[in-house]
Amino acid sequence: MKDPNNRRIGIVAIMGSVRPGNYTSKALALVANEIQQHDDIALEIIDPANLKLLPPGISGDETDAKKVRGSVSKATGVIFATPEYHGSFSSITKLVIENLGFPSVLSGKPVALLGVAAGQIGAIKSLEALGSVCAHVGAIVLPGPVSVAKVREVFDSKGRCLDSVVEKQIRSVATNLIDYIRGNICPRVALEAMVRAGLA
Ligand SMILES: Cc1cc2nc3c(=O)[nH]c(=O)nc-3n(C[C@H](O)[C@H](O)[C@H](O)COP(=O)(O)O)c2cc1C
Repeated sequence: MKDPNNRRIGIVAIMGSVRPGNYTSKALALVANEIQQHDDIALEIIDPANLKLLPPGISGDETDAKKVRGSVSKATGVIFATPEYHGSFSSITKLVIENLGFPSVLSGKPVALLGVAAGQIGAIKSLEALGSVCAHVGAIVLPGPVSVAKVREVFDSKGRCLDSVVEKQIRSVATNLIDYIRGNICPRVALEAMVRAGLA
């Protein structure tokens, strides 16, 4: 991840809906806002609506796939935000994952999950399935995935969250990941830097 301010931590958030006026981006905006409170963290949002990603086996321009792979491989942590579609996570989310390589550049990355659904049971099924796929490719799936039920009642048309409890839960996707990175990844990176500097 290129960062002109040399921020130490890089988080990549992957948008899972390309539907015009989608609610996933409204929820992800709160997560992004939470991350942006931290001066030492760079955030990149990958929006597949702006990318040309191909299914495995279809040949064509690999530029965007390489870009996404590069961003994720450099990231300290990753966030997936997906809508619940037909009892699972969105196909566009799976397409992004399939473009992350085999073996996947998600391997070894801490991953935090956010799911939104129009229905009252929320995005539980999407999050279970997405967590399973992320674990399968070797990601460290953090506990505490956040499922937003009745998402169309939670946000207004301008993207304002109408429920402070739900807003706090959504923001916890960011804080959980940041806490994990600061507690586990940063100390390791610091030790590696000491070794490289010949001080340890
Ligand atoms: C193809 C499709 C399938 C859907 N399936 C479900 C579902 O299984 N359960 C549910 O609660 N909502 C379902 N929804 C509604 C979405 O959860 C709803 O559109 C919500 O706003 C999140 O998606 P969005 O980010 O695209 O807006 C479905 C929507 C679409 C377009």
